[in-house]
Amino acid sequence: MANLRIENLTKNFDEHTVLSDINLNIGQGEFFSIVGPSGCGKTTLLRIIAGLEFPDSGNIFINGKDITSLPPQKRRIGIVFQNYALFPNMSVFDNIAYGLRIQKTEKQDLESKIKSVLEIVSLSHKIHNSVTSLSGGEQQRVSLARVIVTEPELILFDEPLSNLDYTLRIETRNELKRLQRDVGITSVYVTHDQTEALALSDRVAVLNKGVVQQTGTPDDVYYHPVNNFVAGFIGHANLFDEKSSEKIFNVKTGKNKFLALLPEDIIPVKDDVNKTGQITEVQFTGFSVEYSVNIFDNNVKILCLSSSDTGKFKDGEYVTLKLKSDNLTILDG
Ligand SMILES: Nc1ncnc2c1ncn2[C@@H]1O[C@H](COP(=O)(O)OP(=O)(O)O)[C@@H](O)[C@H]1O
Ligand SMILES: [Mg+2]
Repeated sequence: MANLRIENLTKNFDEHTVLSDINLNIGQGEFFSIVGPSGCGKTTLLRIIAGLEFPDSGNIFINGKDITSLPPQKRRIGIVFQNYALFPNMSVFDNIAYGLRIQKTEKQDLESKIKSVLEIVSLSHKIHNSVTSLSGGEQQRVSLARVIVTEPELILFDEPLSNLDYTLRIETRNELKRLQRDVGITSVYVTHDQTEALALSDRVAVLNKGVVQQTGTPDDVYYHPVNNFVAGFIGHANLFDEKSSEKIFNVKTGKNKFLALLPEDIIPVKDDVNKTGQITEVQFTGFSVEYSVNIFDNNVKILCLSSSDTGKFKDGEYVTLKLKSDNLTILDG
């Protein structure tokens, strides 16, 4: 298990700054996610940690030792990719054995290590199958087993679930969380999917355009975003400027500030008298109902439990909007 520290790391491609002054401190055994939209620099950061790419400035430390200029094979870091990167013509056994053979592991030792890692990922019964005969989720577990078996100090995950369909993604996500807890290896997980990051991680860093916007627990970044980007990206929060927040909610934000409200923190109330707000869209998903409400030129997203009284509005109905709580998030932008 390792502690990973990244200090003042910057990376340019041509004239373009892809990562700007990144500082992160990831604890031993921690499951840490880096979440941000496509193109924000997540893969580049992982490749730099792995040694597949070098930064223009800044340093990387593992357990206090500067590894910035070490080649990848000297770093004891494993990577699980989105596309599994398995050898299709080989069995499960040979895929997992590959890295151990490079490490020149003794034959007997190799077999016992492979058997025990297959037990961890619940694939013992598939040891001699060809990897192409496995399902997507099973292939993903083989690629994880292949990394764990080399006993890395750190595992990097680059969007490992994005090729799986919805149900399998949730299943594999839960499995991955359990495995990481059991094995206890420090993990850095990259994804554009904020739900995945919140569900899996001890802490997350929110990245936008190569700049870390906020680092904190899932609870921190969801309930206490530091700026409009984090509020919108992590919580799909509605953002109201000074004028709108006063008109709609009677909240004074202060000059040039914003009121951020999560979709579940706004209550629609029937109002056929003033007719200020109107429901323009209703999306029923079973468990919840999502409304779009047009009010004073704002398009507001609201989420209600479909079984609740507020979950019964129809398209075109008139509403006013109320706050669920007095605990408000006011942001500078
Ligand atoms: N080898 C490269 N040469 C030039 N530009 C690159 C290279 N790799 C990535 N980029 C650019 O760097 C930015 C970040 O890419 P990437 O790290 O892949 O983002 P993400 O993984 O968050 O989608 C993108 O604008 C991408 O086009
Ligand atoms: Mg990427």
